Amino acid sequence: MTKIIMHGCNGRMGKVIAEMVENDPDVEIVAGIDIAEGKASFPIFTDINACDVEADAIIDFSSAKAVPQLLKYATDKNLPVVLCTTGLSAEQLDEVREVSKNIAILKSANMSMGINTIIKLLKDAANVFVPAGYDVEIVEQHHNQKLDAPSGTALALADAINDARNGEFTYVYDRSQVRQKRDKKELGISAVRAGNIPGTHEVFFAGPDELIEIKHIAYSRSIFANGAINAAKFITGKKPGMYDMSDVIANML
Ligand SMILES: NC(=O)c1ccc[n+]([C@@H]2O[C@H](COP(=O)([O-])OP(=O)(O)OC[C@H]3O[C@@H](n4cnc5c(N)ncnc54)[C@H](O)[C@@H]3O)[C@@H](O)[C@H]2O)c1
Repeated sequence: MTKIIMHGCNGRMGKVIAEMVENDPDVEIVAGIDIAEGKASFPIFTDINACDVEADAIIDFSSAKAVPQLLKYATDKNLPVVLCTTGLSAEQLDEVREVSKNIAILKSANMSMGINTIIKLLKDAANVFVPAGYDVEIVEQHHNQKLDAPSGTALALADAINDARNGEFTYVYDRSQVRQKRDKKELGISAVRAGNIPGTHEVFFAGPDELIEIKHIAYSRSIFANGAINAAKFITGKKPGMYDMSDVIANML
């Protein structure tokens, strides 16, 4: 049984995780931490330093501002952290790496098992199709409330392909300003923002006689919660260092 402290327990993700854990006999939330009011079947602390409950790991879905005190708490208590909060500054990312010398930290901007498995598949696909001269394009679609474009996930997919090809690609987000054929070393990334479209990512490998499409649709936040719970089980008892979802997936194979 993995005992979890849920940091940001009253937020959207915290609540989905609490619900999911109810149906998982292998994990338990033993305490929650949140500055906002909320009710749960476990004790909730508004001040992280007041939390004295024994646990195996912390799952964090809170706010970038809350991360420094979380890292200090986790170091003091010698607890591994599944760090899911996004939007960390460059200094905060440095701090995360520094702290990982003392505790295990698993960080991923997208906790979905589906997206992370696709990232793994893309590396092989890129090494087959790019040398064969296939063009690579990514199209992502989201609801009309999303602020950033392209999505961080689209960039992570592009990076997986580009890393596998030793950085040979230039990302192209807009073809409206030049009138010329695409170069083989371009990786086009396009964003659609409309209505209530669920987060959708498509990667195209397009050759002369075939089109390979790899597509992922996120129908709910549960996919991130599921990944975070798997990550918490994985990171329990791990030695200090930085981990990511590829380690969780590798552990399942
Ligand atoms: N990595 C992923 O796959 C993934 C997926 C979804 C969301 N996220 C990220 O996770 C974070 C949370 O997302 P959300 O949708 O649940 O947001 P949310 O705003 O609904 O919830 C955040 C919660 O954290 C709490 N909080 C804020 N400051 C705190 C502090 N100092 N101490 C304790 N609690 C604090 C808030 O009160 C709130 O209840 C965001 O950064 C989001 O981008 C990551």
